[in-house]
Amino acid sequence: TYIIAEPCVDVLDKACIEECPVDCIYEGGRMLYIHPDECVDCGACEPVCPVEAIFYEDDVPKQWQGTYTPANYEFFEELGSPGGASKVGKIEKDAAFIAALPPMGE
Ligand code: F3S
Ligand code: F3S
Repeated sequence: TYIIAEPCVDVLDKACIEECPVDCIYEGGRMLYIHPDECVDCGACEPVCPVEAIFYEDDVPKQWQGTYTPANYEFFEELGSPGGASKVGKIEKDAAFIAALPPMGE
């Protein structure tokens, strides 16, 4: 799977959503999250993010591996696998440590 990391927090550019052929990038309160079971690793989202927030799971920078990688899994623990982000819409929640972050971006 691909993982969205810190540069997305409070930015939510959403250019990535347009690129995903399987609609597996879900909108949370402060960032977007890639569904680890629904992502088909096509990689189309990665180059379009203007703040370079998206990484292949094995290439997530070290400082974010222990936080943003698990966050992209944690976000879906209650949600399960809806099979499409557009029908779900914005979900007003975040992985716990992200909800607790001070305001980010810019
Ligand atoms: Fe976030 Fe970049 Fe997508 S800022 S919403 S990961 S285009
Ligand atoms: Fe979609 Fe990006 Fe995965 S475009 S299929 S979330 S690699």
